[in-house]
Amino acid sequence: MSQTTIPQQFQITSQLHQNSYLVGGQLIEWQGEVSEVYSTISSTDNYEPTLLGTIPTLGEKEALDALDAAVVAYDKGKGLWPTMKVVDRINCMEKFVAQMKTKRDEVVNLLMWEIGKNLPDSEKEFDRTVDYIYDTIEDYKQMDRDSAKFQKHDGVNAHIRRGPLGVVLCLGPYNYPLNETFALLIPALIMGNTAIFKPAKHGVLLISPLLEAFRSSFPAGVVNIIYGRGRVVASPIMQSGKVDVLALIGNSKSANALQNQHPKSNRLRLVLGLEAKNPAIVLKDANLDLAIEECIAGATSFNGQRCTALKILYVHEDIVEEFNKRFAAKVDALKFGNPWESGVKLTPLPEPDKPAYIQELIDDATNKGAKIINKKGGQTTENYIFPAVLYPVTKDMRVFQEEQFGPVIPVVSFKDIDEPLDDMAASNYGQQVSLFGQDIKTLAPLIDTLVNLVCRVNLNSSCQRGPDVYPFTGRKDSAVATLSVHDALRSFSIRTFVASKDNEANNAILQELLQSRSSNFVSTDYIL
Ligand code: G3H
Repeated sequence: MSQTTIPQQFQITSQLHQNSYLVGGQLIEWQGEVSEVYSTISSTDNYEPTLLGTIPTLGEKEALDALDAAVVAYDKGKGLWPTMKVVDRINCMEKFVAQMKTKRDEVVNLLMWEIGKNLPDSEKEFDRTVDYIYDTIEDYKQMDRDSAKFQKHDGVNAHIRRGPLGVVLCLGPYNYPLNETFALLIPALIMGNTAIFKPAKHGVLLISPLLEAFRSSFPAGVVNIIYGRGRVVASPIMQSGKVDVLALIGNSKSANALQNQHPKSNRLRLVLGLEAKNPAIVLKDANLDLAIEECIAGATSFNGQRCTALKILYVHEDIVEEFNKRFAAKVDALKFGNPWESGVKLTPLPEPDKPAYIQELIDDATNKGAKIINKKGGQTTENYIFPAVLYPVTKDMRVFQEEQFGPVIPVVSFKDIDEPLDDMAASNYGQQVSLFGQDIKTLAPLIDTLVNLVCRVNLNSSCQRGPDVYPFTGRKDSAVATLSVHDALRSFSIRTFVASKDNEANNAILQELLQSRSSNFVSTDYIL
């Protein structure tokens, strides 16, 4: 596609050279090595990746400078930010989100170019993140109101709140480089922690329009943003032992490697969203139209590059033939195109080596007896491979075991419900399941078991994280800690309180503390 056929408002007219990084409240100019950021989307008639810009390739020294800035801003709990009144931290966050909203068009365009997310979903990612910030502010206000009081038990008065944990290292994924990263960073910051944040490998330039908002909204060192290879910049930060929380959305291999570098793992709190292989189970009495529609959305939206995507479909043997016929036709009807084209459901893959990996999974499965049952399945272009629906898939195939995180859809038929249940119990993953059926005599015992294998059972609907007020977590290799607007505030904080024996002298001090409003912690102020 040539540049001229790209609508003007989405064209890349100039490259974005991010030549600074944010440490200690300053955008520090970088004159060292840089890395080029390419989009797999072509701007020319003959296919060529598009150069979007460059980012600094920072080294260990800059990483440790960022860590020092976060440590200094926390200042052993004495820092301005961790001791600030809740209402003042909220003011900073409101200032940030007001500036962020002005950058919507730039961020949305970069989301499309950097990760290939289609326009409506890119807009949704931005808007959902803004909503998440406002909802977090509201929830924190309520949390503060609920703790604006004293309790008395066994002659001891207590004023209990939630306090920050310290320094947070925050690493996000490429598939939701804005939303998932901010769903960690925002609650971490608002609770009074300080942070070092490294954007994902793909979806990195879209942070640039927000750097000034971060710089000007928070006190120096509260949020530090660095660029570079994970191994080079994240490892020394972890090895320092100065990180109190590792907040990462990604895979368990990198999470384990990073947490193992911390010299005192007992001091490290983990907030992790990891891999998953959510199954759909289609029972023989399922409403097939509905099941197919939901499985299409679940397996193919954003090309299957969602941790919540349906990555394996179990279909009862009595209906599998009909399911496959209709499902395969619907997959073939999905429109592929560039993210801004109207009605596109399938879009270029941001990882240049992804089509080859998906092809390996297809070859492995077909060599072991599976067939591609849709006509377009496996058709490849420079930046895409059309979703192949594979059937029958068996346990010895890689596509059965691996989290494909891309466009390939394995279908397994089952006779006895214990087959998918046993597979789920044996699997390394435990995030969600989609269950399709109608007879409550069958559904009831299944629900009772499935809730113990995963953390969300989606009845007659595909898996998803939202609405963001609901808990998002998983078992086994799928997550550590729970995220939701409310739970994230808890995950990034700890209960801490002031206690005093109930006697005249202590009570007089408490009264004076409250009346003078000289403590930011001991306060019964009601935030409106
Ligand atoms: O990649 C994992 C995301 O949290 C999934 O969120 O279900 O809203 O796409 P989603």
